[in-house]
Amino acid sequence: MRTDHFIRFERVDSVEEAERGLLARLHGELLRIDAVRPDVVRLQMSRGGSFDPKPTYAVCVDPLGATPDGPVAWRAERANSEGEDAWRLVTDELVVTLWLDPFRIDVHRTDGSVVLESVPDSEGRYWTYATLNDAWTTRRRIGRDDAVYGLGEKGGHHNRRGRDFTMWNTDVLNEHATAEFRAGLDASDPRSDMSSTEFDPYYVTIPFFYQRDAETGSAVGSFVDNGYRGEYEFSHDDEYRVTFHGGQWTEYLFAGPSMAGILERYTWLTGRASLPPIWALGYQQCRWHAYTQADVERIAKRYRDDEFPCDGIWLDIDYMDGYRVFTWDSARFPDPAGMLKGLANQGFRTISIVDPGVKHDPGYTVYDDGIEQDVFCRTEGGDTYIGQVWPGNTAFPDFATPEARSWWGALNAKHVESGLAGIWNDMNEPATGEIAPQAMLFDKGRAKHERYHNQYALLMAMGTIEGLRAARPEARTFILSRAGFAGIQRYAANWMGDNQARWDHLWVSMPMACGFGLSGQPFVGADIGGFQGDTNPELFLRWMQMGTLTPFCRNHSEIDNIDQYPWSFGPEVHDLAREAVRLRYRLMPYIYSAFVRASETGEPVQRPLVLDHQHDQAVVDIDDEYLFGRDLLVAPVTEQGQTSRTVYLPEGDWYDWHTGELHPGGQRITVETPLERIPLFARAGAAIPMWTEAPASTDGYRPETVELHVFDPVVDGRWESVLVEDDGLTVPTDKAVDGTAAHEVERLTTTVVVTRADGQVSVEHETSGPGYAGHARTRFDVVRHAA
Ligand code: GLC
Repeated sequence: MRTDHFIRFERVDSVEEAERGLLARLHGELLRIDAVRPDVVRLQMSRGGSFDPKPTYAVCVDPLGATPDGPVAWRAERANSEGEDAWRLVTDELVVTLWLDPFRIDVHRTDGSVVLESVPDSEGRYWTYATLNDAWTTRRRIGRDDAVYGLGEKGGHHNRRGRDFTMWNTDVLNEHATAEFRAGLDASDPRSDMSSTEFDPYYVTIPFFYQRDAETGSAVGSFVDNGYRGEYEFSHDDEYRVTFHGGQWTEYLFAGPSMAGILERYTWLTGRASLPPIWALGYQQCRWHAYTQADVERIAKRYRDDEFPCDGIWLDIDYMDGYRVFTWDSARFPDPAGMLKGLANQGFRTISIVDPGVKHDPGYTVYDDGIEQDVFCRTEGGDTYIGQVWPGNTAFPDFATPEARSWWGALNAKHVESGLAGIWNDMNEPATGEIAPQAMLFDKGRAKHERYHNQYALLMAMGTIEGLRAARPEARTFILSRAGFAGIQRYAANWMGDNQARWDHLWVSMPMACGFGLSGQPFVGADIGGFQGDTNPELFLRWMQMGTLTPFCRNHSEIDNIDQYPWSFGPEVHDLAREAVRLRYRLMPYIYSAFVRASETGEPVQRPLVLDHQHDQAVVDIDDEYLFGRDLLVAPVTEQGQTSRTVYLPEGDWYDWHTGELHPGGQRITVETPLERIPLFARAGAAIPMWTEAPASTDGYRPETVELHVFDPVVDGRWESVLVEDDGLTVPTDKAVDGTAAHEVERLTTTVVVTRADGQVSVEHETSGPGYAGHARTRFDVVRHAA
């Protein structure tokens, strides 16, 4: 692009103090620098002289309102000594320097370490608006060996340094999109190789990342609150670049230095995952297939006959009448309510797919009603936008308007009256087939497509939630979404879309899940077994063994593939897969407690080693193993025929889950990987709560005993583990069991303290809380594991 198409922001005209910081004027625009929290600042540049008060639906608190730290202390300073012409915003933890000429911004911690250092382009420009295509670009310094994490759902390695990424929700693994993506690449680009796992962009956009300093291990974070198409370039030697093709610059900078602290603050801004119903943490059976009611009932029965634990039965698009959303194919499903009731009686929850596209079909009530209520997206000419999805010509609800969201919510509320427990949202990038989505305008034709494209799934989930909450106010909601934007965690879980039944897709689901977890979305999982293409017995089993130790655990595969049920590969695979699922169910109290923590603090359930061991240089690039909760380390088998693998154990001491052998951390060990198990380790000092057996489903399961598996520490110290028990189904409220108002949520919280002093290990546990209806546990069994 020619340089004269940029507006050069040369010098700042004036600066004044504002409500929470500085307000500057430059080139007809306004610049705000606000103290959000002592370690979080917001930088914002107006567009055309005014600020967009709500750039996206990602942020769900008033960033300048009350904070968990109390009032934010800050002061503005004019620095005008020799060689220094600047204003500063100073908090207890940060110093933002606004240089006046040339205009640029640097941010430091109060100890002088760098949070952000602006760098100029080759023509000396620090910040530009492109006049032609509406884009803005900013450049910052980054060390060659610094690591970059986050950006939500991305392919390839979890350290994003060295690569560039596009932010534009895309049905990427759809064959057409994959081919198009590859066609656009240079033949020398490694991603043009079909075996690459680096497709980009993906279904979900989360413009939030961490930069970890290679020398100090300290991290900083950046969240750009902008829903337009964006680019993050981390492939340059000494700088990274951020470009957004529209909208204003609104960026939250997090001083860290701890990644966990940054994540806590990011999820304060964009919200935390709503606590899922416990059944959503059980094993889920799904497949795209033209099932009949009898088929579905047969599959469910098979699970129960085989004593193979399973909580969820999923219905893909073929349950509908000609892919018309909110309908049932009455020939194939003569009695949906009866079927759902029958499944519920056996402890199953049923979840159905609901795509956003409404078949263009005058006479079909949902379509007619949408036209009448004027809730569909329009084109520039004012017509209803029509794309191509499963039903053929398809209209799209204009989720940018509250009316369309409510309309959609009401349709969902009605839909679940049949007895459905949850909703599966797909194709919500939105995917529009061969027809480009850009002609789809939002907000009754007032907003360009680009403004809401990346937010479409988030807005759809908001509408769906509205309906589910209205239908069953007391019940926790469950939505699974393919696409999403920052904040999607408040409403939905994400699965990683149409992966392939290949070993490298098994592997890539690890860095991808960890990227999600570091980006505020803890409730994620890949299609177990692989979606596209036929799986094979070994891949299926290894995927089950890993997938049962990931947050969302669903077996799913594409239509016309070979059968991919646990029983499809003979008795050995079946039994071993069942062992894996049973372990998940026995670990349910541990997994559930990790979800409670995620919902309260943003702490991810599946995470890369670097989150908990940020200062260990050895873990920076490790993404073929992960932590599942705080205390379990999982090292899956990622290759065919693998009989052993190396595992890096971080600081601490680790018990081999299967053999009980103790290994000191800070080293790489080699472990056997016989077909019956994948490497799994428990952190010494941990108390892992477990059910004594694996129930057929979580439904109604109220054991009298919970085991506390204590892994004896071998050095002196104190360890705390927390178990949270509640009914797993209702929205946590502040009501006591007798219905009177209480100040505590209806649950029981047990803190287990493991202490080792002078070589003696002691275990104490204390339970507090008002309890909950249906509670049956009367005792804990402490099970000690010692070296
Ligand atoms: C998409 C989804 C997949 C689903 C299929 C049919 O490809 O990603 O999970 O099975 O559509 O609905």
